[in-house]
Amino acid sequence: MSPLHKTRTLPEDATDAALRSDVLKGLTHTPKTLPPKWFYDAHGSDLFEQITELPEYYPTRAEREILVARSDEIAAATRARTLVELGSGSSEKTRYLIDALSELHTYVPVDVSESALTQAGQALVAERPELHVHALIADFTAGLTLPGAPGPRLLAFLGGTIGNLLPVERAAFLTSVRTLLSPGDALLLGTDLVKDEQVLVRAYDDAAGVTAAFNKNVLTVVNRELGADFDPAAFDHVALWDAEQEWIEMRLRSRTGQTVKIPALGLAVDFAAGEELRTEVSAKFRKEGVRAELSAAGLELAHWWTDSEGRFALSLSVVR
Ligand code: SAH
Ligand code: TRP
Repeated sequence: MSPLHKTRTLPEDATDAALRSDVLKGLTHTPKTLPPKWFYDAHGSDLFEQITELPEYYPTRAEREILVARSDEIAAATRARTLVELGSGSSEKTRYLIDALSELHTYVPVDVSESALTQAGQALVAERPELHVHALIADFTAGLTLPGAPGPRLLAFLGGTIGNLLPVERAAFLTSVRTLLSPGDALLLGTDLVKDEQVLVRAYDDAAGVTAAFNKNVLTVVNRELGADFDPAAFDHVALWDAEQEWIEMRLRSRTGQTVKIPALGLAVDFAAGEELRTEVSAKFRKEGVRAELSAAGLELAHWWTDSEGRFALSLSVVR
């Protein structure tokens, strides 16, 4: 079997430099924010896997249903020899694509979470001995350089993770993705769809409190990496639907007035009682919006598939 290759484009101290600047910017901004990629240390990646199995969190099951039904069509439309996956996490649903792509030579999972890449990569190398797996520890918003691998390439971005980018970030991201693709290459994009508010809110505020723990994990990351003294128990998890922006917004609400010290930044941050820190958005989409965003990046929507309940969509764009 071929060994698992790993390439790091994030320097070992990326956490340091980027986290410092993100935390400094976010916590001195009004309202306070923190960017979502810091959720995913090893513990955060484990918590996310638990989220995908919650009864309230339908996106993973809905997307899996589409992949089960459509992987053969995706394979026929793309005939990919290289599959690149951004924000691959556990690569669990990706197996349907890998199995359907009969000419597949190389799989390139890309993630900021080294622990998720190592776990998923080692399992795949053992299960699919002929497949070359080249894991890339990289930030997909920071200008990717892909390893040389045979075309045609299929670039997959699943899980609705594109919804975690703000609209301007999405536009920049899709434009940069387009530059990675040559004629004959394709983009497979997973997007969660606008639906009943109660269903959406429950998916991000589950009864067992796993999403609350996931949200608060970002405070633990800042404590560990920057020596801060956040007390996660002093914050409440909040998930609410913004009907205008059509996104779920995740926040952490300070239970009391408190001051948090962040020694690595020489910073003391005051929170008023009830003050909220925005940690994440998860945008929900409609077909015409996805088509327009793809088109603005020079990509043409060729296929649109949803699960049987119309909750989630996969779209495929093939570059001419
Ligand atoms: N694709 C998987 C995981 C989705 S969770 C699924 O559908 O279940 C989002 C994944 O994207 C996590 O594994 C997280 O570590 C990764 N991620 C988030 N922001 C990232 C970034 N800026 N660059 C690279 N990976 C990122
Ligand atoms: N891409 C996932 C989503 O938007 C990430 C996610 C699921 C998430 N649950 C979360 C992010 C809770 C932060 C908090 O659905």
